[in-house]
Amino acid sequence: EAVHAVNSRLFSFCGGLTGDWMVTSVRAICGETLPDAERLHIHQGLGNAHEALSSDTKWCLRGVTSNDRYVTRPEKELLVAKQAPLGRATATHAALIPIRKSAAWWAMTQDERRALFEEESQHIKIGMDYLPAIARRLYHCRDLESKEPFDFLTFFDFAPSDEPLFDRMLERLRSTREWSFVDREVDIRMKKV
Ligand code: HEM
Repeated sequence: EAVHAVNSRLFSFCGGLTGDWMVTSVRAICGETLPDAERLHIHQGLGNAHEALSSDTKWCLRGVTSNDRYVTRPEKELLVAKQAPLGRATATHAALIPIRKSAAWWAMTQDERRALFEEESQHIKIGMDYLPAIARRLYHCRDLESKEPFDFLTFFDFAPSDEPLFDRMLERLRSTREWSFVDREVDIRMKKV
């Protein structure tokens, strides 16, 4: 029952030779990079462990969708009103950006993290400027029993013509104080096969 409950929230992002996304670049922004891969395969649930362990698979990152941690009710309402779902027909480009935050981040209390995340760094305010062009989903890794190399997996999809917009958002976010707590970040770009 407990395993079943997490099953539908669990996602694996596997770099290898198969998958619906063709990897166009793998770039370390901070810390160690990930090995190059030709394709990204996204897999939901506990499912096919065999596939994840295939010798063609270079790496497999796992995360679960979860409840919101920081967002306020008014922010949530604005987000829901403006955001688009992943998987639009026009969204043929995507980015997977796994992120790890430092021990100093995790040593803070929830209210300290919230103040840094939004009142100071304006993560949501910045992000809102790019909706609905950019669709997003956040996966948490720290709650998993498997020792995961990142704290978060962030996934975005967009039309090719909106990629410059996406890059501008990244510049803004990466210059915030929130990002001074990011100690590993890899930027993986891809397009639909
Ligand atoms: C968390 C919005 C872009 C990385 C969040 C949260 C919101 C949000 C509302 C808080 C969720 C919660 O309450 O738990 C947005 C919007 C974006 C955007 C609207 C525009 C597309 C990005 C980008 C990245 C990113 C481009 C990475 C490069 C993260 C991470 C967290 C997060 C790592 C978790 C932070 C933590 O819990 O410490 N985002 N975001 N976001 N976002 Fe974004």
